[in-house]
Parts: sequence; structure tokens; C-alpha cells
Amino acid sequence: MSETTNAIDAIAAPVSSPGEKFFPKFEVTPELVAKAQELVALYPEGKEQSAVLPIIHHIQEEFGYVCPEAMPWIAEMCKSTAIHVAGIVTFYPGIHRKCPGKFHFRVCRTIACALSGGEELLPYICSKMGVDPAEMTDEEPMVVSPDGLWSLEAVECLANCGFGPNVMVNDVLHSQVTRGKIDDIMAACKKELAAERKEAAAAKKEAAAARREARAAAAAEAAEATEPTAEEPVAKKTAAKKAPAKKAAPKKK
Ligand code: FES
Repeated sequence: MSETTNAIDAIAAPVSSPGEKFFPKFEVTPELVAKAQELVALYPEGKEQSAVLPIIHHIQEEFGYVCPEAMPWIAEMCKSTAIHVAGIVTFYPGIHRKCPGKFHFRVCRTIACALSGGEELLPYICSKMGVDPAEMTDEEPMVVSPDGLWSLEAVECLANCGFGPNVMVNDVLHSQVTRGKIDDIMAACKKELAAERKEAAAAKKEAAAARREARAAAAAEAAEATEPTAEEPVAKKTAAKKAPAKKAAPKKK
């Protein structure tokens, strides 16, 4: 094992999470390569490393977090090194090294929000999500619910200090949040998930119907190809007419 791999393993070891079932697994697809190339092309030659952060953001958006396997690939795309990418990933608290839940809650713990009720919100959200607040540590600030639906993280200032307490759910900022508002937000999240599942089930059904239709069309086409043409029966009849009739066997006397 190389020194670089050792260093990456040491600072960015993979952490499994129940949230993974809600995100696709990291995979280098032609679309991902094209997106990375597009981001790299925004910077002048020789400055490709500047695209590391935008690519990290894109990967987090697509896959929920930045897994260790993604780091050497990002480095390759940006003419950088895996250790440089790992350094950036581990430096910014907003970059996840563990997959969050489907709905990720960031609760502001900075003084203005903490004093306006944010501190009491944290245990309430934990109990609603079924997570243990003791699991939130400096090394692992995110907790994910066992069903992977929720995750929670206490973060620093969300830049909306005058309207605390502030909670960001995925990319949406909610201000002056109360327990009642948390209940409403979580109910809306569940509704959103139900709608997504309904849509996915309908799309699956539609795709299955399309496949069935295509199979039936192919079978009909194959049957048509093997059926005798209009001329064939006529030709057979004519041949039968022309065929000499068998002579009756002489009667025995
Ligand atoms: S202190 Fe919470 S948003 Fe600034």
C-alpha cells in the first residue's frame, strides 16, 4: 500500500451509514466525467486544482457525501493529488464524509440561535428522529436515524442570526423554529417522500407496461414473418389439382 493510500485511509476512512440507501453509490459514469471536465474548464490552464471544491460539491449533491474512492478520481480530474483532495474534504465541516439521511437537519448552535431556543431544539429533534445525541461528537458530528430517513448535525452560524433559532433542512433554511415547526417540517418531509415513492412506483409500472408492449409487438412481428403469404395456399391448391389421381386398386374377383 502506498504512503498516499495510508494517509487517505487515516484521515478519511469510510464510515457506513443507513442513509446510503437513499443515494446512489459513487460511480464514475460518462456523465460524471463530462461534468467534472466542464468544471475544470472554467479555470485557466495550470490552475485545474481550483476545480477540486466545485467537483466535491457536485459529488456531494449527487451521492450524498464524498467517499474515499472519489478522492483519487477528483485528484486525477484536477491534476492534483489524493492527499490534497482529502485535506479539503476533511477541512470543511459542510463536506460530508459519511452519508446523511434523506433529510439532513443542520441546527445552528452559535450563541444567537442557542439563546433564542436552539439549544432546546436539539434534544427534541433527536427524540423525534430516534437518534442518540451522545453520538454527536467533534470527530463525528452527524447522527443518522436507523432507517436512514433523518440525520442531524449541530453547525455554526447559518448567517441568519436575527431570526433564530435557525435550522437548515437539506438546502432550505427555516428561521424562528419552534417544536411545532419541527413537527410540521418533518411531516412535510414524510409527505415529500411518499410523493416521490408514488412517482417512482408509477414510473416503474409504466416502464413494465412499455416492456410488455414491446415484447408483444416483437412476437407479433415474428409470427407474421413465419405465416404463409397470400400466394402460398393458392400455389398449394394448384399443385394438388395437377397431381395425378391415384388409380383405384382392381377389385378382387
Ligand atoms: S447564530 Fe444562528 S444563524 Fe447566526
